[in-house]
Amino acid sequence: WLTFQDDVEAILDLKRRRNAVILAHNYQTPEIFHGVADIVGDSLALARKAIEVNAEVIVLAGVHFMAETAKLLNPGKTVLIPDMGAGCSLADSITPEDVALLRQANPGVPVITYVNTSAAVKAASDICCTSGNAKQVVESLGVPRVLMIPDEYLARNVAKETEVEIIAWHGHCQVHELFNADDVRQLRENYPGVTVLAHPECPPDVVAEADFAGSTAIMSDYVGKKRPARVVLLTECSMSDNVAVHHPDVEFIRPCNLCPHMKRITLSNIRTALQENRHEVTVDPAIAVAARRAVERMLAI
Ligand code: 13P
Ligand code: SF4
Repeated sequence: WLTFQDDVEAILDLKRRRNAVILAHNYQTPEIFHGVADIVGDSLALARKAIEVNAEVIVLAGVHFMAETAKLLNPGKTVLIPDMGAGCSLADSITPEDVALLRQANPGVPVITYVNTSAAVKAASDICCTSGNAKQVVESLGVPRVLMIPDEYLARNVAKETEVEIIAWHGHCQVHELFNADDVRQLRENYPGVTVLAHPECPPDVVAEADFAGSTAIMSDYVGKKRPARVVLLTECSMSDNVAVHHPDVEFIRPCNLCPHMKRITLSNIRTALQENRHEVTVDPAIAVAARRAVERMLAI
């Protein structure tokens, strides 16, 4: 804790002086998540709670698409991301031009876009979804067929739970695509009785081997409610660290994968972000209206 104390105290002071709040994703390291964040959660919770923020400055301890979403929902506020390089392999996998081509090839089919995308791709879509509400969003449209982009595995995992036909794209999360079904079987052999929770960005055969799949917030709630004796969370490494703090009675087995984008955010660059007002996230006004509509349409469900 002593290593972090200086930065934590400085950040708490800067937050007061600048009327700032820190929104942190569940994949942030514990010193950020438990030490300085005001609002924590999965992508859906961060988007929802961003609307309720009264502060003038929002620091997004997460990746760029999350900061863009916060800015879309709070156009009058200053939104900062401590490192502009905090991207996402899913967001990088698709462009607005790709969406236009998909629409051409599938006339009249609505486009559901995972929030892990740029504002420009959101603007080219009909509605957004997260891993916490994807099935609900698909079924809310009342149509027999949808395009669901860009995460192929999320789309295929949702397709197994609904009658709606889902046309997928070929994007993958570089963290979750690394898990495989053999590893899960091996885990069960090595740790008898272990409860396996998987993120729906994992390949479908991994989700099929798991006991339960859900967004990061849904996994966290599952551990809180069911209190498994031993559990493995097939997702990013900080997730178990953060959830374990609240459940000393649960044994966390930890094969996990690090997200290099999430890990670009540190206490040190959060401190600098607040001190130097950087890096300010802006959204081109030409795309902001349509992108906000897609996010707000999701939040209205
Ligand atoms: P959720 O927190 O919405 O489950 O998203 C996981 C993720 O990979 C975010 O980048
Ligand atoms: Fe993107 Fe995957 Fe990292 Fe989330 S964990 S930010 S989906 S690369």
